[in-house]
Amino acid sequence: MNEIIEAVNRAAAEAVEKIAAAQDSAALEAVRIAYLGRNGLFPELSKKMGSVPPEERRETGSAFNTGRTKIQDALNEALAKNKSASAGNEALDLTLPGRRSGCGHRHPITQLTDECVEVFGRMGFIAVDGPEIEDIYHNFDALNTPDDHPSRDPKDTFYFPDGRILRSQTSPVQVRVMETHSLPVRIVAPGRVFRRDTPDATHGMNFHQIEGLYIDRNVSMADLKSVLQNFAWEMFGKDVKIRLRPHFFPFTEPSVEYDFSCVVCGGKGCNVCKQSGWIEIAGAGMVDPNVLKNVGIDPEIWSGYAFGLGLERLAMLRYRIPDLRFLYDNDVRFLGQF
Ligand code: DAH
Repeated sequence: MNEIIEAVNRAAAEAVEKIAAAQDSAALEAVRIAYLGRNGLFPELSKKMGSVPPEERRETGSAFNTGRTKIQDALNEALAKNKSASAGNEALDLTLPGRRSGCGHRHPITQLTDECVEVFGRMGFIAVDGPEIEDIYHNFDALNTPDDHPSRDPKDTFYFPDGRILRSQTSPVQVRVMETHSLPVRIVAPGRVFRRDTPDATHGMNFHQIEGLYIDRNVSMADLKSVLQNFAWEMFGKDVKIRLRPHFFPFTEPSVEYDFSCVVCGGKGCNVCKQSGWIEIAGAGMVDPNVLKNVGIDPEIWSGYAFGLGLERLAMLRYRIPDLRFLYDNDVRFLGQF
């Protein structure tokens, strides 16, 4: 064994010892540079190869190779250990902020429905429920709807093969309540309704209404107006005015459409209210005596009012949503704002 081989073996052993003692990857890199780097000890020693007698060259060369491999293996092993140790440290770093998993909440329409139910609840209305699959009697006939009324057309309402329908309004709940409850009654019925409309910014095939009904002795249009005015104040603040416009619905007489002064421009006129200063919110009226007769209530003794409003429309105004389809696209960037 010549002295170069001895030097190489010594250097390799030394390097392996230093690698074992190194505390971090920077220290390991320093060892690598000192022994295997371009100006390190190994290249330095290999310059002496020229002075090695030919018969010893093979042995000397293989000593270099073995030494290099030893150092490199030790380095690789130490680096791998370092990595897994630091991965372990990360998992245990209790100072890192926790990862929050997303937490859902009620849909804006559900929130608004609950709010309306609460507002009407404070005025003495009890919330009731009715079926989404209805029969023609409750959705149309009992509500005094003429046989040739366009809303009965299968182009407007979804019919099942057995003749039942997806309710086109929440008004049939009025009939169901009057059939089953003793008078007086004061209810609101929120729920989903269905129409064969082409969806656009202000129409959907499936939307939500809240229906109101009050039947008692001596109920007047003034009672209706005060409830609607109160509702407007509760939803949009004390500056909102309401107005009732004559209209027609089969189940009320007289019938009105009910407008809020525009909550965007305060009634001055803007593009939301189409420069009119008013926004249509709901239909309402005094329950038609024919409807009362249909459920066996004597219109000479009892009278009442009813109203029905669209919740999507209310949500659009309340939250300034320009297109109701945003409500149903299930985009969490939108829904997360409520
Ligand atoms: N059902 C009507 C609609 O969907 C809304 C409505 C109008 C309900 C007048 C009522 C009412 O209770 O009295 O267009």
